[in-house]
Amino acid sequence: MVPKLTTLFSALGCALGLSACDSPRASTAASGMTATHRPWVPRACPDGGPTFEPAAEDGSTNAKLDLCRIDSASLERGAEPPELVAARARAAARLALLSQDEKLRLVQGSSGAFVGNIPAVGDMPALSLQDGPAGVARFGDVTAFPAPIALAATWDRALVQSFGAAMGEEQRGKGVMIQLAPMMNLARVPAAGRNFESFGEDPYLAGELAARDVLGIQSQKVVATAKHFVGNEQETNRSSADSRIDERTLHELYYEPFAASVKAGVGAVMCSYNRVNGAYACENPATLGDLKAGLGFSGFVMSDWGATHSTAEAANAGLDLEMPRGQNFSGLAAAISAQSVAQARLDDMVLRLLTSLERVGVLGDPPAGSPTAVVNTAAHAELARQAATESITLLKNDAAILPLDPAKSVLVVGEAGGPQPSAVGGGSAFVNAPYVVSPLAALQSRGNLTVNYDDGTSDSVLAAAQAADVALVFVHVPSSEGQDRASLSSGADALIAKVAAANPNTIVVLNAPGAVLMPWLAQVRAVLVAWYPGQENGNALGSVLYGDANPGGKLPLSFPASEADLPQPSSAHTITYAEGLAIGYRALDSAGTPPLFSFGFGLSYTSFAYSALVLRAGAEPGSVSATFDLTNTGTRAGSEVAQLYLGFPASAGEPPQVLRGFERVLLRSGETRSVEIELRPRSFSCWSASQHARYVPSGTYRITVGGSARDAALHAELEITGSAP
Ligand code: NOJ
Repeated sequence: MVPKLTTLFSALGCALGLSACDSPRASTAASGMTATHRPWVPRACPDGGPTFEPAAEDGSTNAKLDLCRIDSASLERGAEPPELVAARARAAARLALLSQDEKLRLVQGSSGAFVGNIPAVGDMPALSLQDGPAGVARFGDVTAFPAPIALAATWDRALVQSFGAAMGEEQRGKGVMIQLAPMMNLARVPAAGRNFESFGEDPYLAGELAARDVLGIQSQKVVATAKHFVGNEQETNRSSADSRIDERTLHELYYEPFAASVKAGVGAVMCSYNRVNGAYACENPATLGDLKAGLGFSGFVMSDWGATHSTAEAANAGLDLEMPRGQNFSGLAAAISAQSVAQARLDDMVLRLLTSLERVGVLGDPPAGSPTAVVNTAAHAELARQAATESITLLKNDAAILPLDPAKSVLVVGEAGGPQPSAVGGGSAFVNAPYVVSPLAALQSRGNLTVNYDDGTSDSVLAAAQAADVALVFVHVPSSEGQDRASLSSGADALIAKVAAANPNTIVVLNAPGAVLMPWLAQVRAVLVAWYPGQENGNALGSVLYGDANPGGKLPLSFPASEADLPQPSSAHTITYAEGLAIGYRALDSAGTPPLFSFGFGLSYTSFAYSALVLRAGAEPGSVSATFDLTNTGTRAGSEVAQLYLGFPASAGEPPQVLRGFERVLLRSGETRSVEIELRPRSFSCWSASQHARYVPSGTYRITVGGSARDAALHAELEITGSAP
């Protein structure tokens, strides 16, 4: 479908600052049909603005929020920041100096030393693009950080921003200008092969962390790339399958991390291999229109490698850069001559690319580094260690077997504990680790422990396990781009059961990309998920096992009790997201199915108590601030991730509860801290598929606060008069 030229020109006029950007847009439904956007009309407020009334002290009335004057546009996108407007003006000046041939060369990749390369034009240097989400891919002498799923398990925004900045610094040191990260497809399918590259199953968590990753990367004058837009939630048939996703689900789940990244100023978005509702993602006017006109994305859309299937169709739908070569965009000159692509569209493509480069400041200050530079540093190794430590998620700890008593002898079982330590996942996110500290080496280096090792492949493990006080079984569950996991089995069920039968003090350490089934759970004393921990694997794990560090990770995705409880990778060429909004814990909650371990769950060596939830008017008009006290009631310092879930009025048709806020808080033993979580009007909003707009449903909302999706320690009710009855 070719959009009308008037639409293209008005979009370009908006992009160039020549016409208003917030005029009613032609919005497109998931069906691919064009529909008119009809924004909700804001209600006037008798007293001049949104109003908030606190709950009665005796609890007889709920808190009340009247969101008058909130309109759909303000729920969807904010005003353009001044630095974007200034960057676009500088980009427009550069654009004016380029010849047609130079413009055409800037919108298609060519060969070179990086994963993606664009030749130098005019006084602009050649552009360099490199993977990926876990650090600098392919090249040596870089830092192997923990995988993004491990970062997600920290729920630590500041840490993720530091991770982004460290990766960005290393990319720049290698001469990279555009980093192909972060990856933000949701873990809809627990066995999906790329879940380790991303931030889990919840769109709010993924969006908050992706946004911090973007800020970190771009702080180093490297453009970040939000990928893969959109509906790329599995690897099976990824290049041909059609993800059928309804409009509301696209907006509320799968667009959400991209919306947060756009708000954070992300410079690039990578469109995905798959089709979405019939059209390939890189030539899909509906989804690319939603991204640019709807979410207000002003940067450039690049294709995934080989994901472009047409010239005029892709260009007119909104693709701005074909990678890694111009197989299709080499035909742009002819398409422009034939008037099937407007000259203004080519100018818009180049303007978008230059705007993002100008916005991060890389054109004025190109990187001096090269692919052979040594970019890993002691500070980055320390950050990798801190992140790996914070990510470790303790799922079971019977009889407080952890932290371990150094006087007890330990048997390390499994190659992942010794000669083959887990570090990273496979595919384009693979990072060449300079070293990996194995758990065995880390325990041996503590000096005061009796530690033995058995690879677990023969019956020798039985006698060795019987002879030890504690058996630590290490399991690495591999995962890679290009294929989904065959099942959720850890692949080590028999070994774990055998060791557990020989030693009642068996502890399982899972280096997993996500959920695994645990048929042996009742037989083991403790379970730790250490994810893909990067180069500092053993150092991080050792510090948690012996209590130098207190585990504080929380699951960024549900661990289902059975494979049947959540979707499997589909081998069909049409993948219908029939569950709509009900993915992950939303699905388990809706079906009343208990998880094996809930989204947001993780134990600590200390304990926490929640009290005194109070709702007040927030700092911004129409926002609500939820404050509560969090107390460390145990004997050790530790971190808790306090989570806030929202239950919508039944008329909204939402799952029973959705995450809308969280805070990771470090508390000394006995310390109490007041925690504040701000809920903005957008937090209360849903997508209307009939109006093609966001709105706030009116009714009673339930706010719960606790340590996981299954721990409603505190709750309060809020009556909202929203933007629709
Ligand atoms: C394909 C992957 O899907 C994408 O994530 C990656 O950035 C490109 N290849 C380049 O390696």
